[in-house]
Amino acid sequence: MASAVLVFLLCLTAGALTTVLGEDPYLFYTWNITYGTISPLGVPQQVILINGQFPGPTINSTTNNNVIVNVFNNIDEPFLLTWSGIQHRKNSWQDGVLGTMCPIAPGTNYTYHFQVKDQIGTYMYYPSTGLHRAAGAFGGLNVHSRSVIPIPYTLPLENDDFYVLINDWYTKSHSELRKLLDSGRTLARPQGVLINGQSGKTDGKGEPLFTLKPGRTYKFRICNPGLRTSLNFRIQGHNMKLVEMEGSHVVQNVYKSLDVHVGQCYSVLVKADQEPKDYYLVASSRFLKGEPLMATALIRYEGGKGPASPELPEGPVGWAWSLNQFRTFRWNLTASAARPNPQGSYHYGEINITQTYKFVSSANKVDGKLRYAINGVSHVNPTTPPKFAEYYEVPEKVFKYDVMSITPPAEKITQVTLDTNIRNVTFHDFIEIIFENPENTIQSWKVDGYSFFAVAIEPGTWTPEKRKNYNLQDAVSRHTIQVFPKSWAAILLTFDNAGMWNIRSEMTERTYLGQQLYISVYSPRRSLKEEYNLPDNAPLCGIVADMKKPEPYNL
Ligand SMILES: *[C@@H]1O[C@H](CO)[C@@H](O)[C@H](O)[C@H]1NC(C)=O
Ligand SMILES: *[C@@H]1O[C@H](CO)[C@@H](O)[C@H](O)[C@H]1NC(C)=O
Ligand SMILES: *[C@@H]1O[C@H](CO)[C@@H](O)[C@H](O)[C@H]1NC(C)=O
Ligand SMILES: *[C@@H]1O[C@H](CO)[C@@H](O)[C@H](O)[C@H]1NC(C)=O
Ligand SMILES: *[C@@H]1O[C@H](CO)[C@@H](O)[C@H](O)[C@H]1NC(C)=O
Ligand SMILES: *[C@@H]1O[C@H](CO)[C@@H](O)[C@H](O)[C@H]1NC(C)=O
Repeated sequence: MASAVLVFLLCLTAGALTTVLGEDPYLFYTWNITYGTISPLGVPQQVILINGQFPGPTINSTTNNNVIVNVFNNIDEPFLLTWSGIQHRKNSWQDGVLGTMCPIAPGTNYTYHFQVKDQIGTYMYYPSTGLHRAAGAFGGLNVHSRSVIPIPYTLPLENDDFYVLINDWYTKSHSELRKLLDSGRTLARPQGVLINGQSGKTDGKGEPLFTLKPGRTYKFRICNPGLRTSLNFRIQGHNMKLVEMEGSHVVQNVYKSLDVHVGQCYSVLVKADQEPKDYYLVASSRFLKGEPLMATALIRYEGGKGPASPELPEGPVGWAWSLNQFRTFRWNLTASAARPNPQGSYHYGEINITQTYKFVSSANKVDGKLRYAINGVSHVNPTTPPKFAEYYEVPEKVFKYDVMSITPPAEKITQVTLDTNIRNVTFHDFIEIIFENPENTIQSWKVDGYSFFAVAIEPGTWTPEKRKNYNLQDAVSRHTIQVFPKSWAAILLTFDNAGMWNIRSEMTERTYLGQQLYISVYSPRRSLKEEYNLPDNAPLCGIVADMKKPEPYNL
């Protein structure tokens, strides 16, 4: 990675790193955000580039690294990037969403500073402002294990590690798409699917995306940074061994294909053990009306002979297949993740639930325009980030806590209110969240600042009796969950990370039109042990721009 410089603050031998080093290593990136013109579907269109790249560069870090990204916004709109799955312990200031940051104004820069503390795995970043995600500026973010932590599989050689970003794609620009939503319409069907920014041809010609050495095993990190479409991913002639999912080591099942819902990431191992020639990677849309959309890319065996077979592997049909696949995902209880102790030593199934939050989604018209809501509240971002209002101790000037009930009525929700949706929660509570989807399209949800146990997805409506079907042993700890049509999903988590955290639909159209909220995990102690101070370099906006900064938190 050319733009990353690893600096050892006290430059000693690597072996002595953990004992002698006062601070964890730093990785520095400087990113220039600009518009560019490319033709992913054969039609020239405006995209957002990072240092001229589409998709953006990969951040390649190791557990506990400090990641410094100086972002120069050279597009004509305020801009933010969010680091999906990075937990930002005590540090929601760096989460890159409008509730906890002022956006980076055009022509200015902001330096994100976050630590990938106690995490491993395959993640990604993408823009959170406007519909910028529709134009690119997304990329991979991987967190390698520290060398002292055992990994439950043989690690591929360091360059045998590939990101595969698969996403739906529109040929309209982000501003045209936003105008559609602002005028009350929907994005409707995308025009195509991309694999690492390209849709691919199926004539067997073209340059390979990756070249494989026969006999070697490769890691593919597959993420879906798209706007709204679940995608199925498969590799012609090859199986995939699933090893990691959103920061957890999982039971290593072998799959012919994987459904990757919006916002999700998976790490798989692929052995180059077939006849040496070319093969197709295939990403195809799921649950879209009409013919599925598809992208392909070639992989080539070094020294191989012959083009890929034009016969592409078929994708699955129906969402029951996808639900069954979800049920095969299991936490490997004996494997270590970022820390030496086994993942399974955290017995989440034995913790008593303090409170149940039920989030029922709805799509309704307000003043003739489509809005998406949770329990009838459709979120609106105030000009002052609510987290800043809290820090400056003037929340009442910006928003009211708890306008949304967490126990919605059983009847169908027809009323929708536009409001700033912030729930005040008690630090350290162990919470159950039920996502209910009475709609007839699939959904995908994301919780910032945390990973949670994805204990159940089932058809129908949730009742307390359904708890007996929860997986309380080895559900995967992750940060996204899909909810199938007319179904529900249950997650469990401890609110132990002070800050304000976004819970949102990963489907950008829904997020933009209000299907999100923030939880304020408020630590009344105002102590650095629990939460960091507002960074000195943070841009200010709204009412706090002219206010005196509060006394910083002390130790
Ligand atoms: C990413 O980091 C790992 C671990 O430090 C290293 O082995 C690998 O070479 C790096 N890859 C790139 C592309 O920089
Ligand atoms: C960013 O890219 C633009 C367009 O290429 C260029 O004009 C500008 O100088 C670059 N800025 C930085 C900080 O590299
Ligand atoms: C903007 O970039 C400069 C380096 O070019 C850096 O010194 C400054 O701290 C950055 N500004 C912010 C707000 O991070
Ligand atoms: C779980 O992890 C252990 C390492 O602790 C590994 O030996 C084992 O093969 C893994 N089990 C499965 C089923 O993947
Ligand atoms: C959980 O709740 C049960 C029943 O209310 C109680 O007996 C038990 O002590 C609680 N466990 C913990 C760890 O608080
Ligand atoms: C948030 O909830 C906590 C615990 O219930 C309470 O102490 C605190 O005053 C509440 N904060 C606000 C700003 O309402």
